Amino acid sequence: MTGRKKLFIKTYGCQMNVYDSERMGDALGARGFEQVDSPEGADMILLNTCHIREKAAEKVYSELGRYKGLKADNPGLKIGVAGCVAQAEGEEIIRRQPMVDLVVGPQAYHRLPEMLDKAGNGPVVDTDFPAEDKFTHLPRGPKAKRAPSAFLTVQEGCDKFCAFCVVPYTRGAEVSRPPARLLEEARDLLARGVVEITLLGQNVNAYQADGWSLARLIREMAKLDGLKRIRFTTSHPNDMGDDLIAAFGEEEKLMPYLHLPVQSGSDKILKAMNRKHTAEGYLELLERIRAARPDIALSGDFIVGFPGEDEADFEATLELCQEVRYAAAYSFKYSPRPGTPAAERSHVDEAVKAERLQRLQTLLGEHQFAFQQSMVGQTLPVLLERPGREAGQMVGKSPYLQAVHMDAEPELAGRIVNAKILRSERNSLAGALLKP
Ligand code: SAH
Ligand code: SF4
Ligand code: F3S
Repeated sequence: MTGRKKLFIKTYGCQMNVYDSERMGDALGARGFEQVDSPEGADMILLNTCHIREKAAEKVYSELGRYKGLKADNPGLKIGVAGCVAQAEGEEIIRRQPMVDLVVGPQAYHRLPEMLDKAGNGPVVDTDFPAEDKFTHLPRGPKAKRAPSAFLTVQEGCDKFCAFCVVPYTRGAEVSRPPARLLEEARDLLARGVVEITLLGQNVNAYQADGWSLARLIREMAKLDGLKRIRFTTSHPNDMGDDLIAAFGEEEKLMPYLHLPVQSGSDKILKAMNRKHTAEGYLELLERIRAARPDIALSGDFIVGFPGEDEADFEATLELCQEVRYAAAYSFKYSPRPGTPAAERSHVDEAVKAERLQRLQTLLGEHQFAFQQSMVGQTLPVLLERPGREAGQMVGKSPYLQAVHMDAEPELAGRIVNAKILRSERNSLAGALLKP
């Protein structure tokens, strides 16, 4: 064979998909593929998809539509659909887009190389939930140098069944990976130049394996030489154990940032969503977390216009936000998802959803801006990651997950430097590098 085959991967959705795409890229790399930045001229295209809202799912079909010409130019081109749309729709994808060669669900990625071998004889679909750990069976690529910050999936799946959400159906039941394997993978990342690891899971704080909690896993990882920062996401309020809260106060490498979605500030809606906690319970929890780590930056997710949400319910959400003052937040209009309980209920008018979303985002935006502004004049430790937009600049991250740009040499990538914050912009901070 002359030359390596070209692989183009496009990733949608959450960080878990980013991690999965890296691992699939590795696995196919071991099969002679090199990754390229555009679909033109590729021998294989893999879409790693998201099913969380209708818009996310529809993107897949419009993207596939754009590949028609490519397949005409190169009949050898293989097109694969992975991720949560693959899991949710399975063979339906091939019915809608017959040019798709393979459909692979999130728990079957380790079978990808063999599926590819079979795909020469017509389309293949694998949406099983096999018992084995897909990551253990995925081949590893060569020890390539990595960016300073990396994701590491420690837990997958969800048993919570919020009434609006597809994740328990697309990712399956909660499964935690064994700690020994995770420590080994962390060491491997450190050997490749990684200094910050974000532990990922759909319900990462439900992590439980070999008697280890997430707090224990964090404490053990913190002992690894060369690891400078640890983060984790996404957490559920009901799995926020005392040991994890304590770790925020005690473990220096654990960064003071917590994404803790609440979805709504109305108890009636929380109940209808099957969230199994109240607004008050959530606020009390935040109080305990802030007691352990007073400077913690909080972020959340919100859904507006959930079935049954009236103006008073929505205002309760605004009140909760006033109380918490999130450093960052993500908010969405409720999107009915096939197969979920809430999809069967009577829906809030689209125009009302849009109006509420706008009001909520205005408030969240004010708080986010105030948080950014409060950094001006402070000196923050910044992990430098990559070149900035302008020549001579580098961009890094504050402990609070803010992008900070400053004049700095590219050789400083992977180092934590002190920076004086000069200005706050909407989505980033401008700083000046302080000499050590
Ligand atoms: N496991 C995480 C996040 C899952 S999805 C958690 O429990 O919080 C990320 C976010 O998408 C959710 O927090 C929710 O705000 C939003 N989301 C999920 N399903 C949705 C739907 N049907 N319509 C609108 N937003 C949704
Ligand atoms: Fe979805 Fe709820 Fe599970 Fe989060 S906790 S993934 S929102 S079902
Ligand atoms: Fe989307 Fe699946 Fe993640 S639905 S948000 S890619 S778990």
